[in-house]
Amino acid sequence: MSTAPLFHLAFPVVDLEATEHWYVQGLGCRRGRRSAEALVLELGGHQLVAHLEPGGPQHQTGIYPRHFGLVFASAEELMALEQRAHARGLRLGGAPRLRFAGTALEHRSLFLIDPSGNWLEFKHYSNPEAITGLEDHHLVGEVRPDHSHSGEAQKSTGM
Ligand SMILES: [Fe+2]
Repeated sequence: MSTAPLFHLAFPVVDLEATEHWYVQGLGCRRGRRSAEALVLELGGHQLVAHLEPGGPQHQTGIYPRHFGLVFASAEELMALEQRAHARGLRLGGAPRLRFAGTALEHRSLFLIDPSGNWLEFKHYSNPEAITGLEDHHLVGEVRPDHSHSGEAQKSTGM
């Protein structure tokens, strides 16, 4: 096991059985402990804990405000997951696409939606520095029309 710290995320689900099936058989996660209320999953070496939440996740119709997933080091890993998602019939959040093509932020992105309505993103950046660097850039994600009051979003549209 690597000595690097592992990321941990707890997230809400409405059905543990469906969650286990989707994440383990579907996505390929390793299953950890399970109780009547929660299920531990390993995603890319990190720890997810799905917690039963009667109300489920807030209804989210797009990629924002919340999603989680993995940034792959290679395009091949992302392509393999795309193929797996198609083969297992996992629900896509739109077609996989190349975002910000031709820019320093170029990345291929795949969104999936789990049985509880949680959005997951898997991606690969052409320029690894874009993952957590490029601090002088002012564009992060999609510009949201419903957030037009945001000065940063407005300024970033021309980039
Ligand atoms: Fe994202």
